[in-house]
Amino acid sequence: MNGIKEVSLKIFENENIKGNLSYFEVDKHIHFCIKRVYYIYNNNKNSTRGYHAHKKLHQAIWCPYGEIEIVFDNGYNKEKFVLDRPDKILIVTKGYWREMIWKKDNSVLCVAASDVYDENDYIRDYEEFKTYIKDGFWDYEN
Ligand code: TYD
Repeated sequence: MNGIKEVSLKIFENENIKGNLSYFEVDKHIHFCIKRVYYIYNNNKNSTRGYHAHKKLHQAIWCPYGEIEIVFDNGYNKEKFVLDRPDKILIVTKGYWREMIWKKDNSVLCVAASDVYDENDYIRDYEEFKTYIKDGFWDYEN
C-alpha cells in the first residue's frame, strides 16, 4: 500500500554490555513532526483494537515488546503487517482503516503521531470510511 512503509531501523549493539539501541528521527525516517506519543499495554493475547481510520493523522507505529499484527485496509484491499521486533516501525499516512491483533500477552504498541488527540479526526464507522474513499476524499500524496 502506497501510504504504508515498513522500515528496519539500525541496531546499535553495545560492545561492553548486552543490549541494543535503535532510533528513528524526523526527516531521516519520518516525514512529519511528532506532536503526541501514546502506547497501549496490558493487553491479553488475541485481544483486538482499532477499527477506525484517520482523516489527517500520520503515525509511526512500533512494538518494543511482544508481537502485534496490524491489518490495514484502504477501502479496496487489505494488507497485513507483523510487528515482532523493536527495530521495526511502520510509517502510516492518513486514510487507512486498521485492526490490531495482539499475538502475545502484554505486547506493547507505541504510536508517534503528527497531531494532538482529536476525536473529529477519527472515522469509526466502516461504511462512512468506504464513502470517504469512494468520494475521493483523500489525497494520498499529502
Ligand atoms: P481510542 O482511540 O478510542 O482507542 P480504542 O479504539 O483502541 O479503544 O482511545 C481510547 C480512549 O483514550 C478514548 O477515550 C480517547 C482516549 N485517548 C486520548 O485521550 N488521547 C489519545 O492520544 C488517544 C489515542 C486516546
